[in-house]
Amino acid sequence: MRKPIIAGNWKMNKTMNEALELVDEIKDETNKTDVEVVVCCPFTVISEVKKAIEGSKVKLGAQNMHWEDEGAFTGEISANMLKDLGVDYVIIGHSERRQYFGETDEVVNKKVIKAIEKGLKPIICVGETLNEREKNKTFDIVKRQTLTALEGVGKDGMNDVVIAYEPVWAIGTGKTASSQDANEVIAYIRFLLQNKYGIEVSERVRIQYGGSVKPSNATEIMNETDIDGALVGGASLKAEEFLGIVNF
Ligand code: PGA
Repeated sequence: MRKPIIAGNWKMNKTMNEALELVDEIKDETNKTDVEVVVCCPFTVISEVKKAIEGSKVKLGAQNMHWEDEGAFTGEISANMLKDLGVDYVIIGHSERRQYFGETDEVVNKKVIKAIEKGLKPIICVGETLNEREKNKTFDIVKRQTLTALEGVGKDGMNDVVIAYEPVWAIGTGKTASSQDANEVIAYIRFLLQNKYGIEVSERVRIQYGGSVKPSNATEIMNETDIDGALVGGASLKAEEFLGIVNF
């Protein structure tokens, strides 16, 4: 049985006080569920959020990292720095990173390899744009992104990997993929994993759906056979909405 994982991606939101207020509102409720709950916060609040969630079941995540250990990379944050702060998860290859910051599949792959090497659990994002979907390229795109991201990752490395299928056209738009469509793509990702790693790994890896998940659609999405959780943007910024998803 795969344990569902609901991760909030706060993106570039929340000052320190706002962040602490939000975690304070979600942590007690989180202790009552069997779902794994992660908050992927901005770098600036990670250390304080870490203290605030101490003793609760909330896990700590970051939204990005660099693939080198250290050096002259102005403005970047390394895996070691995240480990040092007690971070568990790191989102890698979010479509906004790909779209606005030029992250390629190869860059995503380097980051995934480094995260695993350092003991961080990558949440690897894949998903097609609207244009790609309309051209019936969804499966090709998802295949290329998934397999390139995992190049050089062995079976053992897969223990800590989470994949998030996030159709780009559904992110922040209020449009969601139908739960059946999302499940179909996610089942395909699982099939790719099975080909590469065998059934034992493919049955174990958790694959989330992301893109306008809210309390009103969470149950339907989570009831699908292959969907193991959600990566939540907008709705993770308000305690009530996020908890509505966690308690789907
Ligand atoms: P959204 O974002 O829930 O606001 O659509 C999801 C994401 O970008 O991870």
